[in-house]
Amino acid sequence: CLWVRNLRHKRRLPGPFPWPVVGNAMQLGQMPHITFSKLAKKYGDIYQIRLGCNDIVVLNGGTVIRQALIQHSTEFAGRPNFVSFQVVSGGNSMTFSNYSKRWKMHRKIAQSTIRAFSSANSQTKRAFEQHIFGEALDLVQAFLRLSADGWYFNPSHELTVAAANVICALCFGKRYGHNDSEFRTLLGKVDKFGQTVGAGSLVDVMPWLQSFPNPVRSVFQNFKDLNKEFFAFVKDKVVEHRETYNPEVTRDMSDAIIGVIDRADRETGLTEAHTEGTVTDLIGAGLDTVSTALHWILLLLVKYPHIQSKLQEQIDKVVGRDRLPSMEDKSSLAYLDAFIYETMRFTSFVPVTIPHSTTSDVTIQGVHIPKDTVVFINQWSVNHDPQKWKDPHVFNPSRFLDENGALDKDLTSSVMIFSTGKRRCIGDQIAKVEIFLFSAILLHQCSFENCPKQDLTLDCTYGLTLKPLNFKIAAKLRGNQT
Ligand code: HEM
Repeated sequence: CLWVRNLRHKRRLPGPFPWPVVGNAMQLGQMPHITFSKLAKKYGDIYQIRLGCNDIVVLNGGTVIRQALIQHSTEFAGRPNFVSFQVVSGGNSMTFSNYSKRWKMHRKIAQSTIRAFSSANSQTKRAFEQHIFGEALDLVQAFLRLSADGWYFNPSHELTVAAANVICALCFGKRYGHNDSEFRTLLGKVDKFGQTVGAGSLVDVMPWLQSFPNPVRSVFQNFKDLNKEFFAFVKDKVVEHRETYNPEVTRDMSDAIIGVIDRADRETGLTEAHTEGTVTDLIGAGLDTVSTALHWILLLLVKYPHIQSKLQEQIDKVVGRDRLPSMEDKSSLAYLDAFIYETMRFTSFVPVTIPHSTTSDVTIQGVHIPKDTVVFINQWSVNHDPQKWKDPHVFNPSRFLDENGALDKDLTSSVMIFSTGKRRCIGDQIAKVEIFLFSAILLHQCSFENCPKQDLTLDCTYGLTLKPLNFKIAAKLRGNQT
């Protein structure tokens, strides 16, 4: 066990007492990131917990996390070989595979494909923004339809369709209607994905739970089924692309990935199965995260109507009512940018990253951590550190603005939601463009109102992403529309 090994290195890793069989699993509670932060107050920013048969190191706070993921980037770049990770993306996921030469090649391909279709040059930038414009305007129409005759609606499904369509357009050159029933069923399943992959998945730390009937086994069976179905959906589209592939014309990201991986030097270890795995990774990562961000944004806009009005005033002043907002307006819309950063900080809706593991023995802050140790990175603790943030539990976008109303770049770079280091999110830039444009267009076109007598709580459900509980709103078309 880690404790004994650390004794040998003269420093024992602190942490709560682990119970037999389950370890500390029953102490994590509904919101493990909050428990992790409380434990950090008692044991320091680096401590150990035991979940089932795994000793897990939990890292907290900006200093320790950046030291680990940046200064010791290779040592902390691994992924554990959890059973749940092996069923994602047909077993050929880049996101869930361990650090290796093949993984490095795989990540580089995924990263350069995203860049090629979003920011490589002014033409791709424009094409990407056009996809978002189209989806944002469709979303406005869907919201207005759902608000007809004074109705109030839950925006969750429409937001998922909007975010899914942006990434589907990039990957397949195809989008789906808001009422497409096949797509609706598929997206409903993806919603459940994060509940198993988040920190503290019991079947990963107690794999023997798979061998007899129990509630954890049935959750895991559902997880396997949903991954299989999602992978089958993507594979089907990739196979269609492969059959009609023309090396002279790259239609979308699927073609680009086919072009690189299918024809990759076999020495890299990448095969056609990795092509399908990569596209599944990108679609899976691109829809749940962005739609969750937009979900929180709508909740916060109706919870704080004075902030909504202030945002609209600034947008109207900069953009006017005769055209729609674009990325070129971003530098003049500092308050909107500040509002988005504060949403990411305050909600920390990816509270703990995907679990990491150590690729070799490593020592940080005098603490020895052996190779193949599972590591949880508590991003929530970085965003709620009272040493860094004044009143961290208060939602206040203005904290990111200096006395001239400009964005404080030092402070925005202290927010951690995309992780950092070798496993940093590769979709961060496209996610930021999507969130900015969707928010700007929604605010320019609509006003959002809370359902009368609805008490808007900031409580959420826990998983890989934190999601707001169900709430209903109405969207009203704003005057002098374009
Ligand atoms: C990984 C956050 C959107 C693709 C991650 C990780 C986080 C994250 C926390 C795990 C990093 C780690 O384990 O240390 C987010 C947030 C998003 C977002 C908050 C939206 C607001 C996207 C989008 C895409 C994407 C739009 C692509 C289309 C990926 C991939 C990985 C990843 C492929 C795996 C990287 C690896 O394991 O090397 N993201 N993400 N993400 N993200 Fe995102």
